[in-house]
Amino acid sequence: MFESLKEQPADGILALIQMYKDDPRPTKIDLGVGVYKDATGLTPIMRAVKTAEKQLWEEQDTKTYTSLAGDPAFTNAMTQLVLADAVPLENVAAVATPGGTGALRQAFELVRMARPDARVFVPDPTWPNHISILNYLGIEIVRYRYFDEESRGVDFNGMMEDIKTAKAGDVVLLHGCCHNPTGANLNMTEWAQVVDVLNDTGAVPMVDIAYQGFGDGLEEDAAATRLVASSVPECLVAASCSKNFGIYRERTGLLMALSNNADGRKLRQDNMTFLNRQNFSFPPDHGARLVSMILNDNVLRADWMSELEEVRTGMLSLRSQLASELQRLSGSDRFGFIAQHRGMFSRLGTTPDKVALMREKNGIYMVADSRMNIAGLNANTIPILAEAIIDAGV
Ligand code: LMR
Repeated sequence: MFESLKEQPADGILALIQMYKDDPRPTKIDLGVGVYKDATGLTPIMRAVKTAEKQLWEEQDTKTYTSLAGDPAFTNAMTQLVLADAVPLENVAAVATPGGTGALRQAFELVRMARPDARVFVPDPTWPNHISILNYLGIEIVRYRYFDEESRGVDFNGMMEDIKTAKAGDVVLLHGCCHNPTGANLNMTEWAQVVDVLNDTGAVPMVDIAYQGFGDGLEEDAAATRLVASSVPECLVAASCSKNFGIYRERTGLLMALSNNADGRKLRQDNMTFLNRQNFSFPPDHGARLVSMILNDNVLRADWMSELEEVRTGMLSLRSQLASELQRLSGSDRFGFIAQHRGMFSRLGTTPDKVALMREKNGIYMVADSRMNIAGLNANTIPILAEAIIDAGV
């Protein structure tokens, strides 16, 4: 039986982890997978998470099943964190999922169940796993222009032209903030225009929000998602807690399916719960419980917010240090986009050959599409990277 299996393509992002590990050079720099690292290269457990874990260890007296949709304390707290009061809670069907990827997978499956012929419009480029999961599920993908290779900003006119071709019932996938892999984002005026297109075409938005708090702030990063959710008749939102709570391996995420009235909420909720049961039964609880403990406790929440803010401003500072070092070395402003981008990533906008050259010559590991994880840098490695970039002729 197994001999008929086919080889599967390696995941380009995850393959880099191994390549980096195998490189013996002590000067190597890891700008690959999207994991936050502090200046010492550690992915720390956030203080509030540690405190909640201690408290949980003391107080938790059972590990029996929760509910198929996850603990309501978690789904409500996360719905509130992402949407605030943009939509009434009774319009939101929500399930806990294994991470943001789990939420996306459930969302795509829900789309396929509801409308087997729906096409999913995705930005070009997008997180490669979007494409991979959609292909795996046999859902038709339409790419819309997103990144302007010249300015390294958003090709907004191209994007608008392309999403206007969506039909009623198609899905348009949008990154709520901190676009992965480019770091280039829409401003709120542009988001409002996207909402108009969605309403004109009848396409359903699916917002992937995996980096809330990593861009301009917790509230600012959710503003686009809230605008979309409050302005369209139907919407899907996939949220991740991996990054902003630093609980990557706990697999903690949330899928929301909203409509602009409470009718049909039960149908949406029942179908999403059904999908959980089919795919993994109960969603993981440990990370979800930590998140709800933190969000529902004023002291823990304040501590989490202040640490998240340190993480965010730290990455902003790395961005501006790298941009100014590149300005100094190149004598031009052409790398200014690095300081304008937001979130964990910036797409340098160079060829896979030059990326490979920097890896081989300088031990710098970035994704082949030239996505750099800004959080992988520190004050010592910024000059090394900047020099390598200039050296490679980027
Ligand atoms: C990334 O884009 O690097 C992260 O979202 C990790 C992953 O699973 O790809």
